[in-house]
Amino acid sequence: KYQRQYFMPPTCTYDWVKKDYIDHPPIWCSVDLRDGNQALIEPMSLEEKLEFFTMLVKLGFKEIEIGFPAASDTEFEFARTLIEKNMIPDDVTIQVLTQAREHIIKKTFEAVKGAPRAIIHLYNSTSVAQREQVFHKDKNEIMKIAVEGAKLLDKLTKETDGNFSFEYSPESFPGTEVDYAVDVCNAVLDIWKPTPDHKVIINIPTTVEIAMPHVFATQVEYIHKNLKYRDSVTLSLHPHNDRGSGVSDAELGMLAGADRIEGTLFGNGERTGNVDIVTLAVNMFSHGIDPELDFSNIQEVGEAYERLTGMHIHERTPYAGALVFTAFSGSHQDAISKGFTWHMEGKDNGFWTVPYLPIDPKDLGRKYEGDVIRINSQSGKGGVSFILKTRYGLTIPKEMQPDVSYTMKGISDREHAELTPERIRDEFEAKYVRGA
Ligand code: KIV
Ligand code: ZN
Repeated sequence: KYQRQYFMPPTCTYDWVKKDYIDHPPIWCSVDLRDGNQALIEPMSLEEKLEFFTMLVKLGFKEIEIGFPAASDTEFEFARTLIEKNMIPDDVTIQVLTQAREHIIKKTFEAVKGAPRAIIHLYNSTSVAQREQVFHKDKNEIMKIAVEGAKLLDKLTKETDGNFSFEYSPESFPGTEVDYAVDVCNAVLDIWKPTPDHKVIINIPTTVEIAMPHVFATQVEYIHKNLKYRDSVTLSLHPHNDRGSGVSDAELGMLAGADRIEGTLFGNGERTGNVDIVTLAVNMFSHGIDPELDFSNIQEVGEAYERLTGMHIHERTPYAGALVFTAFSGSHQDAISKGFTWHMEGKDNGFWTVPYLPIDPKDLGRKYEGDVIRINSQSGKGGVSFILKTRYGLTIPKEMQPDVSYTMKGISDREHAELTPERIRDEFEAKYVRGA
């Protein structure tokens, strides 16, 4: 059996294909404390959530989904703590998730009572599969759930005089007919009647990613062109990564008209995770666009993330993995070493062009030494000489370099182990200085 039950929109123009890079950052919304947290083996404690929240603020997030307050006491208390202890900076808006069910919506309003501002995020499931198998409801009945939820948000906000704005997600969008999803979103918008001064968010989730990224972008373009009140709507995307294409979905989706991205640090989240905002932001940075998020000390962020979530950042995770700027092989080391010289001599015309390094690791607070050139049996003369020179100020004459390199490679090969810079220096001194 195969999974290909997505829907192409009734019309496609593929206008997004014509653009080759994203020229401004989206509004970023971190869902680490909600989607990320709900997928952890051990969800974060209140104190851990507080520390994570503080880190997200420091990184520059202006919108943060802090949880699903009706889901547990910790979630509820976390919202109350942020509000009662005045921990929400003036330029940050918290967001809370609620299903379109009366008692859950009411509990959510209790959680955000007194907040300086908040986004109430309403969702219900709209896919064919969920309509038939879970809810046993037809299209009109499912639309009614969304509309009734939207009305209740409106009513409770007026009654409580809260400073709230709204977001609506047609959950399980990938299995929903695209024109029907737009109809549901437009029905919700007709209740909320947004204006350019009081915008609302329509959020398109790839709850479970089932289509290729260009299909998703085509769906986003259709939604962008067919939503009512478009000037008063922030079109948000919430990509998941089931096919491994969360980043592509977000990037093509932005080209197709989206204004906002919900995701997590390092792609934590349900199953294969939410889209990785670190990758998206640094991709943008590498194209010369300021993402307005600060990943200039990525190691510190990674360490805090691993400690607080209990997750591990894979060694090959873009930009953050321990090995993503490392070259062991001789030809790569040689090219990198020559590229560094080219770069330092100012021949790069202002672009980062060092071979095999997608960006300057120093922009992420990573160091050349130790991070970039490491020596094992695959390494070459350029790499060994680079270590001896940059670490110990030892310039190895060109004629001597092959011999030194074969010595080090040989040791590494016999021992099946990487050679540390200290070991390289010791072996060098033993053979070439003391003549052992
Ligand atoms: O992935 C999803 O569909 C969600 C919604 C609640 C937005 O997390
Ligand atoms: Zn999600």
